[in-house]
Amino acid sequence: MSRRRKLVLATHNPHKKREMSALLSHLGITIVGLDDFPQIGEIEETGTTLLENSLIKARTVHKITGLPALADDTGLEVDALDGAPGVYSARYAGKDPSYQDNVNKLLFELKGLKLEKRNARFRTVISYIDDNVELHSEGVIEGVITLESKGTEGFGYDPVFQPESYSCTFAEMNQDEKNLISHRARALEKMKKILEPYFDKGEYIG
Ligand code: IMP
Repeated sequence: MSRRRKLVLATHNPHKKREMSALLSHLGITIVGLDDFPQIGEIEETGTTLLENSLIKARTVHKITGLPALADDTGLEVDALDGAPGVYSARYAGKDPSYQDNVNKLLFELKGLKLEKRNARFRTVISYIDDNVELHSEGVIEGVITLESKGTEGFGYDPVFQPESYSCTFAEMNQDEKNLISHRARALEKMKKILEPYFDKGEYIG
């Protein structure tokens, strides 16, 4: 009898869990979230790069659960702000800000700048860890920060991020549309391409 493989998504963010579960649904594995492991609280992101933070999250969850873990870390890089907020995107407006606080600060910092000077990109780094390997992938989407918030879907900076070649923000798209092009989807697609042959070789012990 075949044992269904398990993978823990190292995130407490229900939006991310939903997006990533949808994207991983074809891998034939059981995806579990941190809700199944209440002993794992907030994991402090003390790294100075997206890679370090994704590693911290994946390593912590793997160590506690003993299961293969997958973690992402995402940053919004705004050219006019020399790449800020970048790795500090979650805490841009201070300690424990709401999504709205972060969006408000970003719009304030860019006040008066025309659309053509508001280039930005989302960058996601994903780390996968099990007993045998640590694997990484990266996904990027270019776009602009809009002059005002638009849309109610998604989370975080979605209402002010308009992807290149689109006339609407991520928050004006449904999840399936966002998942076709997003930074996280691109990083996950690359990770899936690495994981599929790895799982097929049977070296995976989860
Ligand atoms: P983290 O990867 O959870 O640390 O996210 C860093 C910051 O970027 C948080 O403020 C998130 O809300 C935001 N963020 C992460 N992914 C997305 C996304 O797909 N859209 C909009 N904001 C995001």
